Amino acid sequence: MPAPSFVERLNEQIGHEFAASQQYLAIATYYDDDTLPRLATFFYAQALEERNHALMMVQYLLDAGVPAPVPGIEAPRNDFGDVVAPVVLALEQERRVTDQINALAAIARQEGDYTSEQFMQWFIKEQVEEVATMNDLLRIVERSSDNPLLAEEYIAREGFGAGEGADPTAPPVAGGAL
Ligand SMILES: [Fe+2]
Ligand SMILES: [Fe+2]
Repeated sequence: MPAPSFVERLNEQIGHEFAASQQYLAIATYYDDDTLPRLATFFYAQALEERNHALMMVQYLLDAGVPAPVPGIEAPRNDFGDVVAPVVLALEQERRVTDQINALAAIARQEGDYTSEQFMQWFIKEQVEEVATMNDLLRIVERSSDNPLLAEEYIAREGFGAGEGADPTAPPVAGGAL
């Protein structure tokens, strides 16, 4: 059985991951509306990744025989002043989630719940990548804030954010990964 305090915080984290997914969808549609399809595609993919993170956590609780209620979440931000603002928000979000993930691992360790601590290891590694990717994207959009088409060209040319394909070390996703 996972430690009850860990389960409580993981249930909250499921909400944070779904909220992150909605926020990335809001950013994707903002760029889509602005006819910046590469930036839009990047954030549609990120939205799906966050959904998968939430459902990995759901699957972990289901496998442990613990209820995993689907939480309500706050509305995402939908209005942005310029093309840089969404990426600033995204980087803040990834840094916040990194702190949350580390706190979850710390609770598991304090409670002597080593199974849950090990479960969090994949997310710790994932957050390092996501913060680094978002930092890179921020530099790209800042450099091309006068002409976002330069960011679009860069993303296309370099295959930026195209992902590494399936990760065999990733935890299973409730309902199967999309
Ligand atoms: Fe996530
Ligand atoms: Fe993320």
